[in-house]
Amino acid sequence: MDKSSPILLFDSGVGGLTVYDALREVLPGAPVIYAADLAGLPYGTKTEAQIAARVAGLLGRMAERWQPRLACIACNTASTIALGMVRDVLEIPVVGTVPAIKPAAAMTQTGTIGLVGTEATIRQRYVDDLETEFAAGKRLLRIAAPGLVQAAEAKLRGGPVDPALIADVRDRLQALAGDERIDTLVLACTHFPLLAEELGHAFGPDVRQVDGAAGIARRIAHLIEGQNLTPSPGPNRFVVTGPLAGAIGLEAALAARGFGAAQAF
Ligand code: DGL
Repeated sequence: MDKSSPILLFDSGVGGLTVYDALREVLPGAPVIYAADLAGLPYGTKTEAQIAARVAGLLGRMAERWQPRLACIACNTASTIALGMVRDVLEIPVVGTVPAIKPAAAMTQTGTIGLVGTEATIRQRYVDDLETEFAAGKRLLRIAAPGLVQAAEAKLRGGPVDPALIADVRDRLQALAGDERIDTLVLACTHFPLLAEELGHAFGPDVRQVDGAAGIARRIAHLIEGQNLTPSPGPNRFVVTGPLAGAIGLEAALAARGFGAAQAF
């Protein structure tokens, strides 16, 4: 394998940057191509068939073009629906992102866990299975919060986040919990840790937020351990599907993470 062969991180938008940030902690110099499918954003309101076809098709073309050593679907929605299919079409290791139910179940003291994801993610059998396997005996309350995806996209472009949007998430979860107290919140969408501060204000300091980014980064590092890896000679690449104008406003966020200017796929 070419020692400059990149790690490919893929998401519908900027959410996967939360995985990228964690990856840079463990593999600071690794060459990365980050692909944001802005032309397909949001995934959460699409059907399973639409998501699976889109993600498998795009990742196939991207892998052919860039010859990555590993691909990471840095998106819970795409992973819970299409991980198996993508593994079938790519010949490289594919790491997925699934809701961090296991660590949340190990952490909760009250036994009541909130899970916030996209509409498509929270209805997946994959999530039912994680719940059965790791959270038996706990209460796992799931809600969809599509507005948070747009809020995270806007925040990274320098826009304000409407506190009412965050309060609504808290209130809907609390309504489901009734008299019980949620002490652990699973951020089951890679966009949501970008709103950690706002969620922290709304839920208070006693509610712990859990996401999978650090675990995924460690998994990637483990899978490529021992491989010949040279840092990319220039900045990492941030690539978007659809018009390049979709990346307007992201300049500061990209520069802070060591990316060059956004490019079109
Ligand atoms: N970032 C994606 C996830 O982790 C989804 C956002 C979308 O709806 O496209 O689920």
